[in-house]
Amino acid sequence: LAAAAAFLAVAAILASAQEGPTGLQESKCWTCHKEGGTVAGDPLVRIVDLVPPASLRLEPGEPAPFVVTVRNPWLSELHRIVGTLDLSDAPSLGFEPPPDPVLGVKREGELALAPAGVNAERTADVAVPVLAGATDLRIRLVPGKATGVDAPNLELRLWPEGVTHDLDHAIVVDGAGKGGTETWRGTAETLSRLGYGAWTAQAAQRAATAGVDISALAAQPFEVVVDTWFNLTGDRTQLAATTDRLDGQADPSATGSLTWRLFVQRTPQPGEAIRIAVELVASYEHAPQFNAVDDWIFRDGLRVPIQAPASGGSDGPAGTEGPTTIVFNTTAPPADTAGVGDAGFWNGREWGEVVGYFTTFLMASALVSGGVLGGASRRGLNKLFRTAKRRIAFHNLTSYAILLAAAAHTAVFVVEAEFPWTLGLLWGGLGIVFLAALGWTGAWQIPLIRSWGYKPWRVVHYGCAILATVATLAHIALDGVHFVDLQQKLGWADPVEQWLP
Ligand code: HEC
Repeated sequence: LAAAAAFLAVAAILASAQEGPTGLQESKCWTCHKEGGTVAGDPLVRIVDLVPPASLRLEPGEPAPFVVTVRNPWLSELHRIVGTLDLSDAPSLGFEPPPDPVLGVKREGELALAPAGVNAERTADVAVPVLAGATDLRIRLVPGKATGVDAPNLELRLWPEGVTHDLDHAIVVDGAGKGGTETWRGTAETLSRLGYGAWTAQAAQRAATAGVDISALAAQPFEVVVDTWFNLTGDRTQLAATTDRLDGQADPSATGSLTWRLFVQRTPQPGEAIRIAVELVASYEHAPQFNAVDDWIFRDGLRVPIQAPASGGSDGPAGTEGPTTIVFNTTAPPADTAGVGDAGFWNGREWGEVVGYFTTFLMASALVSGGVLGGASRRGLNKLFRTAKRRIAFHNLTSYAILLAAAAHTAVFVVEAEFPWTLGLLWGGLGIVFLAALGWTGAWQIPLIRSWGYKPWRVVHYGCAILATVATLAHIALDGVHFVDLQQKLGWADPVEQWLP
């Protein structure tokens, strides 16, 4: 129960820090601040710049710092910066073993006796350090008195740095009972979301609901104990973090850095590359009337190819084990920016959107010309087309056009780089299935009516039309980029996108 409560509290904090992490163009900030967006002034082009070193000189057997500069190229404040360095594609390099854990860091506090309000809630706060780059954390609240009738039943409340100190935003752990130790554990993922730095831990003794708890008649000392582990992440990836806040209004741009310590294990080969991934929060306090979003978690990344050293990998005298200088190809385009900043008339995504809306328009035409609005409209349309035959011919034409347009819409979105290809698979896919059923019942209309009779055929054809329409509307509202607000209000998360890698 306590774990569930703590989980919910974490989820609430994560949600209050809003959505994400996403790339630039899927962020809320982008919708208003992109070039040509609704906000005048300096447009948002890049949220962060990652600058790897141009080269790294490594002495045999000695680790050297690999420092990636994090620069703030825009006007928002950047903080909670956590980087992951991945050496999976660079077998010649290795990490220095992670630092030893820092265990048993203690902070003492006391719930003071307040004779006037013996049965009211008492709380006391202590600041606890959450060291940057920690990948596992344990925070324990240990009451001074663990046994006896006067042992307190404490509750542990935690607030990450910068989080408002109210109960709604607290991580609450309360499962241990009278005299028990409350324990909270954070993993790399939770910590990188909640942020490092000075957290606040609160010991709370709630007001007794019936009678007086004898433990409330004494001051209650307690200890908060913090254990921190680093980089239990496997030996090909390591985390580094900084608690720096990069001011967006500074001139020149504010910078911070992420540091890993690397060994060279053998001569680098052509084709090796280092991958850097970063998650950070960009913030700006907007005036309330703009109804903007103040914080967003961004993810960005960089792949840095290694240029193998020219000869033998060693620039010391031939035959000796000298230092190795690794040169990084920092001018290679970042791997994940395909499609970003695409100039031209419309980019792939926009073409896909236009074709999608055109498909919807065709569907509306097909529905109306098919007579979905009822007998009166059918008679009116027959007049407009002069004969029922010509109305049906138009209906058939639009129906074939829908198939073509939907196919083009799907193809564009599979090819374009901005959206994951799974987006739209569910509702768009259902739409296609019902459209196909419509096409089948339409094209084989005469034999089907002969074997089923007119009424059942009409019910099936009509039903498929309704289902195709519903699936299409869901596809627009739940997958469409223009309805992100609605999706967020509904809390819609595409299940297909979560099942598939
Ligand atoms: C609904 C539209 C909207 C969204 C979404 C939005 N903003 Fe804004 N932003 C504005 C408006 C309007 C202004 C100008 C008024 C102001 O300063 O409050 C502004 C101003 C700013 C400024 C100051 C620009 C300057 O010239 O000094 C920054 C920085 C900023 N926003 C960052 C962000 C970030 C970061 C996000 C995402 C977390 C974001 N905005 C999301 C509308 C938006």
